[in-house]
Amino acid sequence: MNTLEGKSIVVTGAGRGLGSAYAIHAARAGAAVVVNDVDVECAERTASSILEQGGRAVVSGHTVAVAEQAEAIIDLCVSEFGSIDGLVNNAGVNYEAISWQDDPAAVRELVEVNVLGVMYTGSAAARVMAERGGGSIVNIASGASLGQRKLATYAASKGAVASLTYSWALDMEEVGIRVNAVCPLARTRMILKSERSMRICPPEKTPDRIAPLVLFLLSDESQGITGQLVRCNGSQLHIVGQPYLKEPILERELWDVDSVRRAFDEVFSAHLEPYGLEKRVPPRLRKWVEPLRSA
Ligand SMILES: NC(=O)c1ccc[n+]([C@@H]2O[C@H](COP(=O)([O-])OP(=O)(O)OC[C@H]3O[C@@H](n4cnc5c(N)ncnc54)[C@H](O)[C@@H]3O)[C@@H](O)[C@H]2O)c1
Repeated sequence: MNTLEGKSIVVTGAGRGLGSAYAIHAARAGAAVVVNDVDVECAERTASSILEQGGRAVVSGHTVAVAEQAEAIIDLCVSEFGSIDGLVNNAGVNYEAISWQDDPAAVRELVEVNVLGVMYTGSAAARVMAERGGGSIVNIASGASLGQRKLATYAASKGAVASLTYSWALDMEEVGIRVNAVCPLARTRMILKSERSMRICPPEKTPDRIAPLVLFLLSDESQGITGQLVRCNGSQLHIVGQPYLKEPILERELWDVDSVRRAFDEVFSAHLEPYGLEKRVPPRLRKWVEPLRSA
């Protein structure tokens, strides 16, 4: 289906893995595509594949992590194709580390790419989209944002992407820009770096299986959908629940330590929630729930 016919789309980090699949599928669906990646050789390979299939593509070797370069990626789309209708904020890096042994330089680099990169590229795209009356931004988040062992920095960066998605969707609805995020799972170079990830992501979970969701969110078929996180692991497709202010909400003039302690002892202990992607039950909730189970 040529759902992106006539549209101009930027995909960052499109030299390999998921980004390459998004770019190739977008071009097959009729879009002209800016194939961005700091690894220019890889970006050229993706673009050649698009051109060989009769599509339209141009390469950008800019980094998303520097504001002026992020702006240049969007400018390239406008100068080559006349405008920008869609952005896939896909470029990202990750590594595993025990939280208290994390290397500050690695933390900084990851945040620069995964958080600042999304902010810089997204706001540069939004400036053009707002002026021309709309567009669609698809941020690439991760299930890791719910909390995952040895991935705290990466998880936090993707949590920031989720928060950006909610806030941008609120800010941009009135200028016709929809903003959603996708939490993918696919066998890529990123997954091959970690034995744990390889176990949950077998070879048949290819990036091609995630691309249709991204195409749908870029296209006009998804009109009316904004502010959502959607997860796809190849076979499962679902929405990720929104964080919310949970009842009961207790209220008093002033909270001192004693009244906070009593709030937890008497009310909140039963309302604590399992946390992290693995849904770990906090010890206090365990103490509360186990006697009920054995009664
Ligand atoms: N693979 C998965 O299962 C998975 C799961 C959740 C989220 N993600 C996210 O999906 C996105 C793509 O991941 P992938 O698995 O294809 O990874 P990958 O490592 O295979 O590809 C990432 C690409 O981004 C490029 N890149 C890195 N820094 C850049 C920068 N500063 N500017 C421009 N390009 C840059 C890299 O050169 C690389 O080609 C990432 O944001 C990742 O966090 C992936």
